[in-house]
Amino acid sequence: KRIILVGPPGCGKGTQSPILKEEHCLCHLATGDMLRAAVAAKTSLGLTAKEAMEKGELVSDDLVIAIIEEAIKRPSCEKGFILDGFPRTVTQAEKLDAMLQQRGTKVEKVLNFDIEDSILEERITGRWIHSASGRSYHTKFAPPKVPGIDDITGEPLIQRKDDNADVLRSRLEAFHKQTQPVIDHYIGKGVVVNLHAEKPPPEVTAEIQKVLA
Ligand code: AP5
Ligand code: ZN
Repeated sequence: KRIILVGPPGCGKGTQSPILKEEHCLCHLATGDMLRAAVAAKTSLGLTAKEAMEKGELVSDDLVIAIIEEAIKRPSCEKGFILDGFPRTVTQAEKLDAMLQQRGTKVEKVLNFDIEDSILEERITGRWIHSASGRSYHTKFAPPKVPGIDDITGEPLIQRKDDNADVLRSRLEAFHKQTQPVIDHYIGKGVVVNLHAEKPPPEVTAEIQKVLA
């Protein structure tokens, strides 16, 4: 399966991805996670991406396209993948379509996490993540067993630098201006399915399972 998860910051892409990945043995490619790892490791990619990310703006198309181009060639992604946070511009979408066409495949489903902006601030400001694994928690909606500690490794949780109300406004603006046209692009191809992303996580999971069954 070749699936895209699309939706605004905090809509639940990263929460649903691990479940999908397990059930369908897919590779999970999250450009945001990959970029954050590069920033943490201070690679040249990370140093280039850092400023835009902290401002809540998109990183250049060339950078993220190169990351994805390399990733989808991996043998582990041969069976299929979940793209989380990519494509985010029409240029990225067109490039992805061309890459897949070259390999004789295409995007099969675009899961559109439909949700109102007003719900997202509480989700974003309450999120805590385990940076090594990408696992995320929420102080109210998905609290860890011990506050501030990852359930599985016992390591401390952190908050993302861009997870504050101020930067969220820029991220939402980028979503509406640059990423909504990506959804329209795939609506034109007849592959978009809308999810009720305001519902609790298990209900969203059930909707996805129905679509992918
Ligand atoms: P990225 O990491 O992709 O961030 P994002 O799109 O803003 O999405 P989030 O990770 O914030 O949201 P999510 O949907 O994964 O939410 P989650 O499931 O964790 O990108 C970050 C930056 O990198 C961008 O701003 C840009 O600079 C750059 N970048 C990345 N990709 C790029 C690209 N392709 N091109 C250019 N630049 C790029 O949920 C959020 C919280 O809510 C959690 O605490 C969770 O526990 C809770 N929650 C989840 N679901 C529910 C629910 N149903 N009910 C209640 N609570 C819930
Ligand atoms: Zn995410």
